[in-house]
Amino acid sequence: MRVLGIETSCDETGVALYDTCGGLLAHRVHSQIDLHAAYGGVVPELASRDHIRCLPVLVRQTLEEAGCGLEAVDAVAYTVGPGLAGALLVGAGFAEALGTARGVPVLPIHHLEGHLLSPLLSGDPPAFPFVALLVSGGHTQLMRVGGVGDYALLGETLDDAAGEAFDKTAKLLGLGYPGGPQLARLAADGRPGRFALPRPMLRSPDLDFSFSGLKTAVVNVVSAPAWDPDDVADLAADFQEAVVEVLCAKSLRALAETALSQLVVAGGVGANRRLRARLDEAAAEKGWRVYYPEPELCTDNGAMIAFAGALRLSAGESVGRGGGAIRVRPRWALAELVPPRTG
Ligand code: KG4
Ligand code: ZN
Repeated sequence: MRVLGIETSCDETGVALYDTCGGLLAHRVHSQIDLHAAYGGVVPELASRDHIRCLPVLVRQTLEEAGCGLEAVDAVAYTVGPGLAGALLVGAGFAEALGTARGVPVLPIHHLEGHLLSPLLSGDPPAFPFVALLVSGGHTQLMRVGGVGDYALLGETLDDAAGEAFDKTAKLLGLGYPGGPQLARLAADGRPGRFALPRPMLRSPDLDFSFSGLKTAVVNVVSAPAWDPDDVADLAADFQEAVVEVLCAKSLRALAETALSQLVVAGGVGANRRLRARLDEAAAEKGWRVYYPEPELCTDNGAMIAFAGALRLSAGESVGRGGGAIRVRPRWALAELVPPRTG
């Protein structure tokens, strides 16, 4: 069975073709970074329009790369939420139309389900159950994953997401857009330990996070009379160290509390090298293992959506065949999901 995946929840247009026997056949991502850079953040209306422009092109390129035509598509999976309403509507409308034209099943997929199942696309995947740390621009959550659609929330951020904290701090430090990866690159050139930044909620007995105070602490450093802009790489390193330390500590606590030994890290911040190094080291000490998606599948993409759709279809989920009402879910908690509904 070949599933076409469509991702348009934010500022990346993603298309992929996943084969339940042959694996990922092809995938294409178009990033809108250049489009939004001048505004310092994603402009929803521009995002929607660019998804409309890019989707047909990416579908054609993906099918060409896979060496097949639309007639080879047995199902269409698309991101139905959470995300920007207009951007989601573009993907939903496209997928429903394609499903109707081809008479094939159409599956609405939760964006974060795509992210947390994406490490299963690698050559050496984890087995259920595992703990997932979802760290993106919009979310920071620890989940217990029992199987497809079996997600229990263990803890989450009470304010900013980890990626949002990276982006906002990067903006404060005058770095370009998008800030997270640039801040991480700068941090690699810095020496941590010079600035005493807080470790928010590190000692709280729960599995929740808070990152907005950390951003305020950085504001205080750069607005003090003693601030020397030449120290920006060291400050970036200390900021990264603070975020990474809290993410690590709570992830390890989640493993201990659930008595599980596998941690899956997903979402854009999962690309952070320092986070990976610290998690790998800490987990190895306990005999636990950390799994990551392939680097190109860490940020938003269509492959994770096609894959989640394929897993649900393979489990017998009953779905419509296009032509239904086009509805999206801009806000949607992952823990509300249920295992594939059959019959
Ligand atoms: O999952 P994603 O592509 O989009 C969603 O938010 O759904 O994640 C994007 C986020 C952004 O906040 C970006 O700054 C952050 O991931 N990010 C990073 C790194 N690469 C991406 N943050 C820290 N270090 C990185 N290397
Ligand atoms: Zn995402």
